[in-house]
Amino acid sequence: MYNKEIIDRISREHSAEKEDILTILQDDSEDRYLFEEADKIRKQNYGTDVYLRGLIEISNYCKNNCLYCGIRRDNRKITRYRLTEQDILLCCDTGYELGFRTFVLQGGEDIYFNDDFLCSIIHKIKAKYPDCAVTLSLGERTEKSYNALFSAGADRYLLRHETASKSHYEKLHPAEMSFDSRIECLKTLKKIGFQTGAGFMVGSPFQTHDNLAEDLMFIKKLKPEMVGIGPFISHNETPFKEYKNGTLRDTLVMVALTRLILPNALIPSTTALGTIDPQGREKGLKAGANVVMPNLSPVKFRKLYSLYDNKICMGDEAAECRKCLEKRVESAGYKIVTDRGDWHA
Ligand code: 5AD
Ligand code: FES
Repeated sequence: MYNKEIIDRISREHSAEKEDILTILQDDSEDRYLFEEADKIRKQNYGTDVYLRGLIEISNYCKNNCLYCGIRRDNRKITRYRLTEQDILLCCDTGYELGFRTFVLQGGEDIYFNDDFLCSIIHKIKAKYPDCAVTLSLGERTEKSYNALFSAGADRYLLRHETASKSHYEKLHPAEMSFDSRIECLKTLKKIGFQTGAGFMVGSPFQTHDNLAEDLMFIKKLKPEMVGIGPFISHNETPFKEYKNGTLRDTLVMVALTRLILPNALIPSTTALGTIDPQGREKGLKAGANVVMPNLSPVKFRKLYSLYDNKICMGDEAAECRKCLEKRVESAGYKIVTDRGDWHA
């Protein structure tokens, strides 16, 4: 039996049983109610505010070989690039002018970006823009490295767990990567004091509804401050090129359930969501998301940072991305705020 009571209970208790999640995933009859509930909870915690994160894609070199990812090391078809310190600081200057108060430095696992190099950049961004938050999204590193980056002034770290099922994780990654070290990294990041982001893809190859339920259980237990959720989108130069993309509907359901379970989480309406549906990001906001991440990377490098095919915002200057998102956010009934947008209890 599926009715509004299941949604009401999850909403009230901020927790769900696996059975509830499976029921909801299998039956779309109450989707509208689910999204409205998620929006209600989001408004209780954050009003209509939407936080901006300026995404700077600093390198597409990667030593890993994740089977889904377009910048995996075995992809010989892409031109590799890395930004210089000066490039990165210029992106921040542009971003600051446009009202960004969080900069996200994201990249593949590129050994060129050692701790000294990264700490120096973090120091410089923080010295110039003390009112801004610095978020890193640079994959798995040692505890010593995470400590150094935190001491240098980084505030937040994004590291999606990708899937909370060990056996599923092993189907998405080569044997040299381990689920246990992924989870260990997330725990370390939290322990150090980073506002920590976990997250997962929806509809990745071999994923079952059971796996998605496990993702929510995992999120409930870890309590990350941020949760990134986007559909899997196939990339033509990966072993998963023949696999189907994740669906809009399942992604929105996972966003909404995440909002019910972690009422004050920071949840982006992702670029991947905007890629599978022209109104995807607006729909994500209406299903409980409260963050958008416009691209601040230099336009000439954008198409080289292709994690998946048909990624949007490729040709747009930072200012255009910012304006476009502002319109989209407003059309959905929310408003962008110029604020660091930290997590709060
Ligand atoms: N489709 C969707 N998301 C992807 N990511 C990587 N490759 C893909 C893909 N093919 C996501 C991963 C990663 C984040 C930076 O991008 O979840 O953590
Ligand atoms: Fe980048 Fe719309 S958000 S062009």
